[in-house]
Amino acid sequence: MSDTETSENALSQDLEILPDDAAVDLQAEFEKSQVQEVLDKLDNELVGLVPVKTRIKEIAALLLVDRLRCRFSLSSETPTLHMNFTGNPGTGKTTVALRMAEILHRLGYVREGHLVSVTRDDLVGQYIGHTAPKTKAVIKKAMGGVLFIDEAYYLYKPENERDYGGESIEILLQVMENHRDDLVVILAGYKDKMDKFFESNPGMRSRIAHHLDFPDYSADELEQIADLMLADQSYKLSDCARRALSEYIPIRTGLPHFANARSIRNALDRARLRQANRLFASGNKQLKKEDLITLTEEDFRASRVFLDGKLDGDLADGTMNEIKIDNS
Ligand SMILES: Nc1ncnc2c1ncn2[C@@H]1O[C@H](COP(=O)(O)OP(=O)(O)OP(=O)(O)O)[C@@H](O)[C@H]1O
Ligand SMILES: [Mg+2]
Repeated sequence: MSDTETSENALSQDLEILPDDAAVDLQAEFEKSQVQEVLDKLDNELVGLVPVKTRIKEIAALLLVDRLRCRFSLSSETPTLHMNFTGNPGTGKTTVALRMAEILHRLGYVREGHLVSVTRDDLVGQYIGHTAPKTKAVIKKAMGGVLFIDEAYYLYKPENERDYGGESIEILLQVMENHRDDLVVILAGYKDKMDKFFESNPGMRSRIAHHLDFPDYSADELEQIADLMLADQSYKLSDCARRALSEYIPIRTGLPHFANARSIRNALDRARLRQANRLFASGNKQLKKEDLITLTEEDFRASRVFLDGKLDGDLADGTMNEIKIDNS
């Protein structure tokens, strides 16, 4: 990969250039891009997150107008699209990054639209000479799509003199500048840690065009998220189970390692586990569809969150994928 190339707008190369007195149809261009489909999916599949959704629509509008400007040869540089997603665990950052990759692809800003999600360990080596090849391999994989760096601040460890994170940051900075037309980097993590990281790495800050903050969900939103997840998996709640879940959510929110929507997903996974065991233990071999889809009150009330206000350590980690420090 050359570090000296400058970023030309890839779009201008494959768009037909129009004469100055031509007119373009913004709506038609928008429909052609099929971005609305992704925006609708974002609206329907993700509860809340209004400021995030609004910002994404704004970015989509900017890119679309940029595309039209290209057709009149008005702009020659790809806009900087690197982003910073801040928020607590389970607030939807990874999910939104995936949608973002899709939008960028549909508007022609990245060739393939895939997302490569990494953390420090994927980028930084343990020995001299290991970091550059590691970082470059990840970048190569992400080219044509989005490189999502979770907890990006761990790349920078000033307290450790011999740390190789700085080397990785240097390479990333060059690529973020010179390959803007084919790679979008999204950094993600806690807001306070990210702010500190930018303070120490102004070069990184100056390359980020969009900062999106993901707020914690309200109890009401968490309940709606539960409904979406249940519908998605063909389960439903009995009336009493719904009441139990409404009580569960505020208690769980106040306990350690609360991870917003992910905690809800985990709670539902455990309720399913209890349902299966309840059905099994009942000895009733003639089960109806209704039995198989209904989660009952006891499937929730058996949680330790209710019994003694603690987390369920017994069933948690290891039984499900993608669990992060959450075992309620
Ligand atoms: N607004 C939402 N509506 C519905 N489901 C959501 C919403 N936000 C998150 N989820 C679901 O919650 C889970 C966790 O979301 P995601 O992985 O995107 O969060 P995250 O912010 O990346 O978390 P982390 O910081 O821990 O990586 C996913 O299964 C996702 O589908
Ligand atoms: Mg994530």
